[in-house]
Amino acid sequence: MKRTQIKLCIIGFGNAAKAFCQILNDKADEIEKTYGYKVIVTAIAGRSKGSMIDASGIALEKMLASIQKTGKLSAREEDLIDCQTNELIEGCNADVMIELSTLSITDGQPAIRHIEKAFVRGLHVITANKGPIAWDFERLSTMADKLKRIFLYETIVMDGTPIFNLVRETLPGCKVLSFKGILNSTTNFILEEMERGATYDDAVKEAQRRGFAEADPSLDVDGWDAAAKTTAIANVILKAKLKPTDIDRTGIGGITIEEIKEAGLKNKKIKLLCEGYMENGKAIGKVHPVLVDRNDIFSHIDATSSALSITTDMMGEIYIIEKDPEIEQTAYGIYSDLLTLLKRLKYEQ
Ligand SMILES: NC(=O)c1ccc[n+]([C@@H]2O[C@H](COP(=O)([O-])OP(=O)(O)OC[C@H]3O[C@@H](n4cnc5c(N)ncnc54)[C@H](OP(=O)(O)O)[C@@H]3O)[C@@H](O)[C@H]2O)c1
Repeated sequence: MKRTQIKLCIIGFGNAAKAFCQILNDKADEIEKTYGYKVIVTAIAGRSKGSMIDASGIALEKMLASIQKTGKLSAREEDLIDCQTNELIEGCNADVMIELSTLSITDGQPAIRHIEKAFVRGLHVITANKGPIAWDFERLSTMADKLKRIFLYETIVMDGTPIFNLVRETLPGCKVLSFKGILNSTTNFILEEMERGATYDDAVKEAQRRGFAEADPSLDVDGWDAAAKTTAIANVILKAKLKPTDIDRTGIGGITIEEIKEAGLKNKKIKLLCEGYMENGKAIGKVHPVLVDRNDIFSHIDATSSALSITTDMMGEIYIIEKDPEIEQTAYGIYSDLLTLLKRLKYEQ
């Protein structure tokens, strides 16, 4: 029987989920007209914001207004259910899980368990959480293939900027040999502030004041976030089997203002680069501060912007840049994966 309705279950209801639901609400008619599917959200696991199941579809506008006003998915206690996230995935009877829970950079959990559970229950999965791709990509993607489930994760690096789509959809027959990028905005911002003369401590404080850095900035400044992104890209486009702990990682904590000034005198800048390449048949990942010439494209990647260059066998080097992203670009990444999924489902019918 031809299916015309797609039921989504959203796990984790923070900034990305809110912005995604806003797009979904605004674009519902366009999606139905273009793809022939009515997409509804039937379950949300929102932890401190409460959880909800409604088989006829949660009213998104009302739910978003409630979050704004009360911090809960619904102002009415009786609309909320008391259940663990795993129970909700098991009982929600949705077609697609959108996994947007908090990143755990140390092990990718609980998102890995959520994704496993969803596949076993027959759901397709879209995630913006890089933890599962950095820690367990090979196993999860093999599981998806075996169970004939679709698994998409475009947003995990550079939001909605096409990285994985670019390689998968637009470079047929091309082999990626290596990649290089500036992928952590906090460290990029801190290095830039230091170029302007700020001390390291003041630059970190400014990044925190502007909301780019966490109260504990160590995951960024020690290169862990960049290492997780490097691992995720390597695992997908170099078919590596790396974990973030395999990355040769140096953060920016040891960089002095004198070194930055000295680099400036040589017409160079210090940037935290993420690199992935093959060496004797083995994938290598590296995160380290590098002296970059002022004529180099990477030296122009400022503040919260990011960039990735991919070196391929047939198309040489390709650069892709994301300029000053906001949460809408994160939400677009999730939305673009949803449209990719709908296209594939339509094609399979
Ligand atoms: N924001 C971005 O720019 C961006 C960009 C690319 C990728 N991402 C990734 O996208 C994901 C979501 O990002 P975000 O900015 O929306 O994060 P966020 O605002 O911190 O929201 C994450 C939400 O997940 C909830 N959560 C945590 N564990 C959960 C569990 N076991 N079950 C159900 N809910 C759970 C949290 O609940 P509580 O409120 O109770 O803590 C929180 O509301 C993260 O993995 C992030 O790394 C974000």
